[in-house]
Amino acid sequence: MNRGPQSLLFEASRPGRRCVRTAGADRSAAIVGLPTSELRQKPPALPEVGELDLVRHFTRLSQKNFSITTEFYPLGSCTMKYNPAINEKIASEPAWAGLHPLQPECDLQGALQVMYELQQDLGESTGLPGVTLHPAAGAHGELTALMVLRGWLEDQNQPQRRTILIPESAHGTNPASCTLAGFKVKALKAGPDGMTDMDDLMANLGDDTAGLMITNPSALGLFEVNIAEICRLVHEAGGKVYMDGANFNAIVGVTRPGDFGVDMMHLNLHKTFSTPHGGGGPGAGPICVTPELAPYLPEGVVEKNADGYHLARPERSIGRIRAFHGNFLVLLRAYTYIRRLGAEGLLRVAQNAVLNANYLRVKLNKAWRVPFDGLCMHEFVGRPTKEMRDAGVHTIDVAKRLIDLGIHPPTVYFPLVVNEAIMVEPTETESRETLDEFVDAMLQIAEEAKRGDEILHQAPQKMPVTRVDEARAVKKPILRYSPEN
Ligand SMILES: Cc1ncc(COP(=O)(O)O)c(C=O)c1O
Repeated sequence: MNRGPQSLLFEASRPGRRCVRTAGADRSAAIVGLPTSELRQKPPALPEVGELDLVRHFTRLSQKNFSITTEFYPLGSCTMKYNPAINEKIASEPAWAGLHPLQPECDLQGALQVMYELQQDLGESTGLPGVTLHPAAGAHGELTALMVLRGWLEDQNQPQRRTILIPESAHGTNPASCTLAGFKVKALKAGPDGMTDMDDLMANLGDDTAGLMITNPSALGLFEVNIAEICRLVHEAGGKVYMDGANFNAIVGVTRPGDFGVDMMHLNLHKTFSTPHGGGGPGAGPICVTPELAPYLPEGVVEKNADGYHLARPERSIGRIRAFHGNFLVLLRAYTYIRRLGAEGLLRVAQNAVLNANYLRVKLNKAWRVPFDGLCMHEFVGRPTKEMRDAGVHTIDVAKRLIDLGIHPPTVYFPLVVNEAIMVEPTETESRETLDEFVDAMLQIAEEAKRGDEILHQAPQKMPVTRVDEARAVKKPILRYSPEN
């Protein structure tokens, strides 16, 4: 019997009935709109297993996962803090999760209210009241803000302003976003203290300056002490200042970028405001801008009037950058987090993030080298000492050894301005006991390095996959399923 997709669906949805697979050619006639040449001829060679085997398989896989719910995860620049379970509980309520983006606005008033209030909260926290929640990741926020800047420059009749200055201590996505938005990038040097070199800044400001893009706190975990003066100089030269605010968890509730002269910034909700990390897509990277730039924001800003909440297109909008309402359930989680903590709780987030990082920095700075050894923000960058490197121990060995000691490796070989960098971000959600365990592990590794222990070159030993040839794995990745691997 020739069964089309409708009847297969019907079979699959009836309890107790097996879904019958029909092979390629049989199905093709029933599948409307796809050319026969594009249809697969054989069913996919998926493993055939019973439910219990399947459950065991996925349970075992989940146990192999290295995650924040099982281990310490001090991945610098990524803020792998614990995301409270209440976020998930709220986001999984059918009243929210069951909404359809094509429902009319009058049906979505509750969701629009959440978005409106989140816009207000973020505008208030940053001192930049024009907010769009649409960008789906931090880098997407960067791109959106740069497009806003282009729109503004065009209206100012300043199309020749095409250069963005970026300090060396910026996150890697910053220059990439500039290029994507059609700007040229000029790098600014950092001084020995890790701060932007002010002479270099002044020498590079000119009629072609569209703006400056600064990661603050920087990828070195340092707050740019000259930020107000930097903003003043860029404004005087006719440009705007973009602050990469992905590290906002170090300063939330303590200071507001809008108050020290920043014109635009993005926030990584999936970092500061405890939502799932997005892998460049399913996160949320709202941008906040000054009232002057707000008319250029993407379509879909939530406004409130006498009839309720509705989505609006700002007057000089750059257009749409994301379908529907952005990642609404991610926004809802951030809203839950903010409402649960309140202003006081958010301030404690920043205080504890900074306290925890400095606790580790001070405990480790004898056995490890910490190049910028002043007060840090929420993270710091260290590296193996010369003695360790001379003994043939490199950052990669430290990272692999930590895995055997039950700790996710920090970010390694980034930022590029520090050779052999190990970037540690403990986050505010870790206890002192966990921090001390990390210190013990790092001190143990320093001792092993001094003794020249071979284990450092063989680790990890306790994982299902031990030390791999990474260069080969990158060049010849095995991406196909096979029962053997
Ligand atoms: C400082 C900084 N800027 C930008 C980004 C990019 O954010 P996303 O990965 O969400 O695109 C990150 C990512 O962690 C970051 O740490």
